[in-house]
Amino acid sequence: MSRIAYVNGQYVRQSEAAVHVEDRGFQFADGVYEVCEVRHGMIVDLTRHLNRLDRSLRELSMAQPMSRAALTFVIREVLRRNRVRNGIFYLQVTRGAARRDHYFPADGTPPTITITAKSTDPAVSAKKYANGIKVITVPENRWDRVDIKTVGLLPNVLAKQQAKETGAQDAIFVDRKGIVMEGASSNVWIVTPDGELLTRPAEHGILKGITRTTLIDVAEKLALKVVEREFRVDEMMAAREVFFTSATGICVPIVEVDGKPIANGHPGTVSGSIRDAFFDIAEKTAI
Ligand code: PDD
Repeated sequence: MSRIAYVNGQYVRQSEAAVHVEDRGFQFADGVYEVCEVRHGMIVDLTRHLNRLDRSLRELSMAQPMSRAALTFVIREVLRRNRVRNGIFYLQVTRGAARRDHYFPADGTPPTITITAKSTDPAVSAKKYANGIKVITVPENRWDRVDIKTVGLLPNVLAKQQAKETGAQDAIFVDRKGIVMEGASSNVWIVTPDGELLTRPAEHGILKGITRTTLIDVAEKLALKVVEREFRVDEMMAAREVFFTSATGICVPIVEVDGKPIANGHPGTVSGSIRDAFFDIAEKTAI
């Protein structure tokens, strides 16, 4: 079955899908995106993802590609046409196509919108959850508006590649003071020796993950204490558990950082119980 993509009003075979050679996303990374999980035929936390998309567009003075209702319709249609039951959709909006010039294009230039979807194998995630992952720390070298979900991800790409080349799976950005920022494509959490769940504030300096926000709801239901404060690498190394959250991996245990084990070097129970409760508590939208 060939995959189907939505591109500026049309559903096309993904192998034939294309955007303009002078698209501003392509030339300037002048675009924003969302990745949203689909599980058991349900879109997870769609409202929060679309709210964040609205915010990203607003922060960059970019036009809305279409109404919320139309967007929801198209997302569901792309998922249906790709027969996704477990997987993700990827949505990208750019400032459109125009002759290359750093200034914004003329008012009325239509934004470019593309939506793709793919199935993922739940067994692959299950293995990650069972074994945990190894990560490295890398110096924070991104701009200070990473709270906007832009497609300008070169530092993230380089950090992940560096991790791969050193035998790890992922990377965590750390600032000059040794404070843990976030993962290359996820937020970082620790469980302190006292059993508190700790994650850094998300007002600036990191992306306010949707999974992170919903996890706070989940923790409340499980009567776990969540504290939002900055923490340093040494505190992370002494934690009972360390884990990542993102739409593509709900509570992925981190068992090794920079070659050193976290706790006994095996996934902990807190991240596991949160993950088990997550889907029940998150918002679910049927395809
Ligand atoms: N990334 N921080 C960064 C830098 C991210 O790229 C992401 C998500 C997150 C977690 O956000 P959320 O819980 O809303 O997925 C945090 C997506 C999955 C990606 O780029 O593929």
